[in-house]
Amino acid sequence: MNQTLETRLYEAVSRVRQHWRGTRFLDGLEPGVEGTRALLDVARIYRANRLEIGRMRPLVGRAVAGLFFDPSLRTHTSMEVATGRCGAHFVYLQGGEGTWKMEFDEGVVMNGATAEHVKEAAPVLSSYADILAVRAFPKADNRDETVIRAFARYAGAPLINLESALAHPCQGLADQLTLADLGGNNSFQGKKVCLTWAPHPKPLPQAVPLSVVRAAILGGADLHVACPEGFDLDAEEMERVHGFAADTGAKLTLTRDQASATQGALAVYAKGWAATDRERHGELAAKNAHWTVGDEAMKTATAFLHCLPVRRNVIVNDSVLDGPKSRVIPQAANREPVQAALLLSWLL
Ligand code: CP
Repeated sequence: MNQTLETRLYEAVSRVRQHWRGTRFLDGLEPGVEGTRALLDVARIYRANRLEIGRMRPLVGRAVAGLFFDPSLRTHTSMEVATGRCGAHFVYLQGGEGTWKMEFDEGVVMNGATAEHVKEAAPVLSSYADILAVRAFPKADNRDETVIRAFARYAGAPLINLESALAHPCQGLADQLTLADLGGNNSFQGKKVCLTWAPHPKPLPQAVPLSVVRAAILGGADLHVACPEGFDLDAEEMERVHGFAADTGAKLTLTRDQASATQGALAVYAKGWAATDRERHGELAAKNAHWTVGDEAMKTATAFLHCLPVRRNVIVNDSVLDGPKSRVIPQAANREPVQAALLLSWLL
């Protein structure tokens, strides 16, 4: 066993614990500014030594249960690989198909399609696994957090949100790592970051854009959020995250002008999200089809980011995505180390 690496890992994890004793990672703000910095340090150690950590198997004997109510390529694979490399066992569960159809409402007479209540499912899974990780997009409206909130209430084990209606915190943590890689010296404090709405045929939830905002504010960015009229981000969530700006020196500019937002940015992060009036989403997305990120928008920017999967020539043109400024692959790769950092910080 590599004693130096083991010591560094323990020291980095103990710094996380100095700042964050929580067992819920639901919107990504829970570790706070210092706890997040410490988590990113653990992620960097893991990233630089993942094969050695794979040999060390520091979490052998532990188990993580991942319950997915929606499809995933990156989140599932990166969670399972991170868990395995740390030496723990990962159980993949497909919500509603490979498991019993689950009930979340209180006081329901369960004589219909649902066969198991979350009140039993969450504590039962917690009795087997040391960490639960749940992905559940909204089933009804854009603020529906029924599934992840129910697991947060009834799970005895630490809980990771793998994307809900309003948050994709692991994506946000990976995005901070990517932005810090781009910024140099492990920081993007004071650097201009642009989050731009881009057209998408579906009225997608705001989980990713809100997590980008949280990531940028936690990292102290000069954040410019550009979107057309009718696509403003959730005011309550924006207000809540803005509270962290005083601690990090972050600045927030909201604009309808994509060109000014992208001008000179360290990163242009594109994402589609639903119109506030969902009924008019198709009409408004079509009206703003010119918001697709192309070469002109990237002219003075350093890097292009997107959480993936991405619709080519709808969100972003091929020339950008296939060009030298695209950093979407290393951005996706950063999912594994940040999730490993969470596992190590809770279980080491
Ligand atoms: N970015 C992301 O969460 O990708 P998946 O939906 O494939 O997991």
